[in-house]
Amino acid sequence: MQVALRQIGDCLIRRADSSDLIPVMQVNLVTLPEHYSDYFYESLLGEAPEAFLVGEIRGKVVAYTMCKIEYGFSNFKKLGFVKKGHIVSIAVVEEHRKKGIGRAIVEEGLKGIKLKKADELYLEVRCSNNEAVRLYEKLGFIIKQRLKSYYRDGEDAYLMTIEFSY
Ligand SMILES: CC(C)(COP(=O)(O)OP(=O)(O)OC[C@H]1O[C@@H](n2cnc3c(N)ncnc32)[C@H](O)[C@@H]1OP(=O)(O)O)[C@@H](O)C(=O)NCCC(=O)NCCS
Repeated sequence: MQVALRQIGDCLIRRADSSDLIPVMQVNLVTLPEHYSDYFYESLLGEAPEAFLVGEIRGKVVAYTMCKIEYGFSNFKKLGFVKKGHIVSIAVVEEHRKKGIGRAIVEEGLKGIKLKKADELYLEVRCSNNEAVRLYEKLGFIIKQRLKSYYRDGEDAYLMTIEFSY
């Protein structure tokens, strides 16, 4: 059964299911230089379906976000070991950007990660990706660190993170 979360204009934000994985991979291929194996998409859907979301317009997947649950040292608490959500990837196809779909899908992803009772959420973003950095900052993420040559092409990443309160 599909779990609908939010309507934004003509775009329905909902949880992904296995039939969405190929369309999600297609969106990933045309929007980002970082790609993953089929198995990786499947494993994220199995691990955190609450935060593996798609945006759909008239039956076509135009956006997605997918997250991983991890355990490790806190980005906020000194020496704290915490449960962390990790936004592995998020994208909206070019023709449907600047309609609020990116913001809505990240907001719903944050709620999904909270359902998993994570203490924090983090992501990496290219330092040159102003649109994405601005979006995350508007949603309360802060830049915690600059990761030198994080990407294969040598570009640095910002590690951005947000802490949850329950
Ligand atoms: C980053 C990304 C996900 C943003 O998606 P998006 O759907 O365009 O995001 P939003 O529409 O929510 O917000 C983007 C801008 O559109 C504006 N906007 C939102 N609704 C709008 C509307 N109805 N009319 C005009 N502008 C609008 C927002 O205010 C925001 O403006 P700002 O950047 O000046 O603050 C998208 O650019 C993308 O997929 N990029 C390629 C992949 C990528 O870089 N992913 C991130 C990797 S970390």
